[in-house]
Amino acid sequence: MPKRIKLVSIVGARPQFVKLAPIARAIDAMADVEHCIVHTGQHYDDRLSASFFEQLEIPRPNANLEVGSGSHAEQTAKMMTLLERYLEETGPSGILVYGDTNSTLAATLTAAKSHIPTAHIEAGLRSFDRAMPEEVNRIVADHCSDRLYAPTPQAMENLKTENLAERAVLSGDVMLDAILSNVKLAQQKSTALDELGLADADFALATVHRASNTTKDAIVPILKALESAAELVSSLVFPVHPRTRVLLTEIDFKPSPMIRLVEPLSYLDSIRLIQSAKIVITDSGGVQKEAAFLNTPCLTVRDETEWTETVSLGVNRLVGSRAEHLAELAEQAMANTEMFDKATKQGIAEHYGSGEAASLIVTDFAEWLA
Ligand code: UD1
Repeated sequence: MPKRIKLVSIVGARPQFVKLAPIARAIDAMADVEHCIVHTGQHYDDRLSASFFEQLEIPRPNANLEVGSGSHAEQTAKMMTLLERYLEETGPSGILVYGDTNSTLAATLTAAKSHIPTAHIEAGLRSFDRAMPEEVNRIVADHCSDRLYAPTPQAMENLKTENLAERAVLSGDVMLDAILSNVKLAQQKSTALDELGLADADFALATVHRASNTTKDAIVPILKALESAAELVSSLVFPVHPRTRVLLTEIDFKPSPMIRLVEPLSYLDSIRLIQSAKIVITDSGGVQKEAAFLNTPCLTVRDETEWTETVSLGVNRLVGSRAEHLAELAEQAMANTEMFDKATKQGIAEHYGSGEAASLIVTDFAEWLA
């Protein structure tokens, strides 16, 4: 018998695969909902894409648009052209878009113009910095979507301020769903600690890839600060995003022996290292939250964050992009772990829910469509 509702998830970049995993599982459990997955091809390296589908057991995409890299306009326009055709041919009842990437923007705009109901997962996040490409993507996605799933009470507040409360639902955070269902698996399966010789070591984990931090001027002081922070521990592991890799080659960065440049990590290795690190230093939105969920102190190399709860809980501190004080703050954070222990499970639950966001979202969206 044909299923009553047909949903299409549109994803393209690494953090979206993590958010898609619990949603795909929740839809799979619904008898009358069919689910198709479209990969835009924004992230095409296996380490940023295929490995996530495999480890998170996400069904193979029904279509891959293979758009690859390009300027923001080129990438977005290519996705929109191909998505328009795909949506016309497949005629879904509704689409699901995730987070704040160019794939989110392209999918939301295309669906809005094709009059296809859209649900935005991770709605209402704001950094209030419109120079960030992600901020523009978030605002457009929220204003053009029909159903907005806010991961936190703060995100609900932001939507209210923009007169979007009527379409908004407080769902909890699907990234918490993903962590809760994978943290044990990561402990059992990830071999990253042994491979890096860090099983009994105090180490720091760093990631840097935001557009504003990956210019020649911005990256040099950050790298200098990471060098100083590395001296506080036995080693600093730095998985390098492709965007950052190009820049490090251009400036001919020669790290000290304390800094371990490695390829992007798989999801299970990433959560294993975040959980075991003495400190995480990052400009990634997802990694900030994962550090908070796993109770590892985090320093964020940005002037602002959309995940303000991690800061109020005490597990995250904004270092600013100039980063001169990074080593000093890292030392304080590692010396004061009680401060981080205060970020209890209760605090996480109050802000991010109980790890059942995905089933709430798909049930609500299917009912709303019906
Ligand atoms: C994108 C998202 C960002 C998210 C990040 C996670 C936007 C605007 N930004 O940033 O919100 O946090 O993904 O990684 O959508 N590249 C490769 N191989 C790949 C993918 C990219 O080499 O598989 C290179 C390309 O040269 C590209 C550059 O990395 O120009 C940047 O990729 P892009 O898709 O523009 O954005 P991200 O920096 O990955």
